Amino acid sequence: MDVTSRSATDNAAAFDAHHDDVFGRIATRYDVLCDLFSLGIHRLWKRRVARCIAEESWDTLLDGATGTGHIVQHILAHASTRDRRVIASDISPKMLAIAERRLASHRDRVELRLLDAESMPAIADASVDAYSISLGLKICDRRRALSEAFRVLKPGGRLIVLEASTIAWAPLHRAYLAYMSLCMPALGWLATGGDASAYRYLLQGVREFPSAEALAREIAGHGFTDVRFERLSLGIVAIHVGRKPGGAR
Ligand SMILES: C[S@@+](CC[C@H](N)C(=O)[O-])C[C@H]1O[C@@H](n2cnc3c(N)ncnc32)[C@H](O)[C@@H]1O
Repeated sequence: MDVTSRSATDNAAAFDAHHDDVFGRIATRYDVLCDLFSLGIHRLWKRRVARCIAEESWDTLLDGATGTGHIVQHILAHASTRDRRVIASDISPKMLAIAERRLASHRDRVELRLLDAESMPAIADASVDAYSISLGLKICDRRRALSEAFRVLKPGGRLIVLEASTIAWAPLHRAYLAYMSLCMPALGWLATGGDASAYRYLLQGVREFPSAEALAREIAGHGFTDVRFERLSLGIVAIHVGRKPGGAR
C-alpha cells in the first residue's frame, strides 16, 4: 500500500481541527454527550481499551486525541501502570484543561501536551514505547496520524487504536446508522443549545470509517506487524493493536 499519497477518504469525518474549534465549544459537555449517544456503552469500550493498553509492555505511552482524559484515567488506575509515564495529548486546549483536572491526582505520572496527531515535531523519532488513539482517528487524516504514530514509536513499540467500525451483519449496521443519523444531530443540537456541528462530523466519521479488516490492512500498510483486532458491541467499535518491527517482542 502506498502510504504517501493522500485522498479525501483519509479523513473520514472531513474534519480539520485547525478550521473549526468544535471540541473547544463542547468540551464541558463532551462526557455527558458520550453517555447520551452511546447509552453509556462508551464507558465499557473505554475500560476495555484502557485494560488492553495497560496490559501491553511500555514505560512511556503517548495517548493522542486524549480528549477529557477518561481513558488515561482508567489506564493509570491499573496496578500494572504504577511506575509508568503517560503523555496525554490533544489539539484542543479546552479538552486538555478538563483532562488536566481529571488527572490531577496522577500529576507525577502524566504530562499534558498540546499536539496535533497529524504532525508532532515536538515528539522525537523512536521515543515512546506505546501510542494509543481512541475515537480520534476518524476525525483526522488517519494516514498522517498513523505515519506519525509509526515515527514516534521505538522499534517493538505498540500501537493501540479504538475506533468506530462496522457491524458484520449488514442489516443491523444499516439500522445502527439510521439510529445514529436520527438521534445524533437531534440530541447534539439539544444538548449544545443549537450547535450540532460536532455531531455532524462524528456521524460522517462513523459512516465513512473503514471496516475492521480494512483498517487492519491500512495499519499493516504503514509498516506495523502482528496487527490484530477485537470487535466490541458486535462491531460498533473495534480495538486494533499493531507492533512496530524490531526491538524485543
Ligand atoms: C471524539 S473525541 C475522543 C476523545 C477521547 N480519546 C475519548 O475517547 O473520549 C476526539 C478528540 O480528538 C481531538 N482532535 C481532533 N483532531 C485532532 C488532531 N488533529 N490532533 C489531536 N487531537 C485532535 C479533539 O480535540 C477531541 O478531543
